Amino acid sequence: MKAAVFTKYGPPEVVQIKEVDKPTIKENQVLVRVSATAVTSGDARIRGFNIPLGFRTLSRLIFGITKPRKQVLGVVFSGIVEAIDERVTQFKVGDAVFGANNNFGTHAEYIAILERESMVLKPSNIDYTQAAAVPFGALTSLKFLRDFGKIKSGQKVLINGASGALGVYAVQLAKHFGAEVTGVCSAINLELVKSLGADHVIDYTTTDFTSNNETYDIIYDTVGKISFSHCKNSLNVNGRLLLAVAGISQYFKMLSTALIGNKKVVAGVAIFNKKDLNTIKVLLESGELKSVVGKSFLLEDIVEAHRYVDSGHKVGSAVVTLD
Ligand SMILES: NC(=O)c1ccc[n+]([C@@H]2O[C@H](COP(=O)([O-])OP(=O)(O)OC[C@H]3O[C@@H](n4cnc5c(N)ncnc54)[C@H](OP(=O)(O)O)[C@@H]3O)[C@@H](O)[C@H]2O)c1
Repeated sequence: MKAAVFTKYGPPEVVQIKEVDKPTIKENQVLVRVSATAVTSGDARIRGFNIPLGFRTLSRLIFGITKPRKQVLGVVFSGIVEAIDERVTQFKVGDAVFGANNNFGTHAEYIAILERESMVLKPSNIDYTQAAAVPFGALTSLKFLRDFGKIKSGQKVLINGASGALGVYAVQLAKHFGAEVTGVCSAINLELVKSLGADHVIDYTTTDFTSNNETYDIIYDTVGKISFSHCKNSLNVNGRLLLAVAGISQYFKMLSTALIGNKKVVAGVAIFNKKDLNTIKVLLESGELKSVVGKSFLLEDIVEAHRYVDSGHKVGSAVVTLD
């Protein structure tokens, strides 16, 4: 089968399309023929080994010290079940599915995945391209807003990076939870963020949200550009700064704010699970959550998709189609 393989860390050009062995299913696994996947900011970080300060040694141990241990990137997928192990009960051959594989490998024509992983039936009201665009950003932002942010109805929430993969779902999920939402991005994406339900939008190229005398219960930074000292005065009492991108110093700040003061920094890593994906699926089916595809690429052009992600200005997801 064809797969996007990278054998060394580096720029987008290290990724090459190669013939590799098609996976065979083991106990409790499902073989999925991938229709669409996405190059996520997570894939691009690992490919370029662009890891936040303080976590580089640990990441080398996890992902490979001198060269990548897993040579096929890709977390998200949509596709069709082609085969199942005899113990599998939740899926049958021919099912249309989508999900997020914590073990990578979705930048390929086929993946073998445990049925208990975060994979569910694809909503019938969206296509494979739209389905692959959702899990990475939606599952991460669900984790951050609901679990790290303890978001409540009526709260004021600011999303920094509102037009990216995390941001577009953060805006919609925060609205779903009943918050008043402010989205921050550049001028070109303000209309999109409004269309996703944001009550207010701010163009960061002309306005610093910390200087407009507004305060928020949650500031969710999906970009890695906001420090606690810079936005502290924009947080309400008991407010939380949620950091999707955090190095060791931000984790120390999380510790110190947990001990002192009434405004907290919360950082963490979202691990994907089936229960949360089901929550997202229901919201997609009801139309409350909309998929946002910035650009779509063919597998053969995946290097272009990596370049688009590296720009730091992609809109929603960079989807890669295989069918
Ligand atoms: N902790 C976790 O578990 C976890 C999980 C997933 C991802 N992440 C991390 O989250 C980050 C975001 O991921 P993503 O996929 O959403 O990225 P993305 O799609 O590239 O999003 C970029 C967003 O940032 C905005 N932006 C760029 N420069 C900005 C600035 N100076 N000020 C404010 N906004 C700015 C862009 O808006 P414009 O294009 O309008 O400029 C766009 O909305 C990545 O670094 C990723 O590694 C963390």
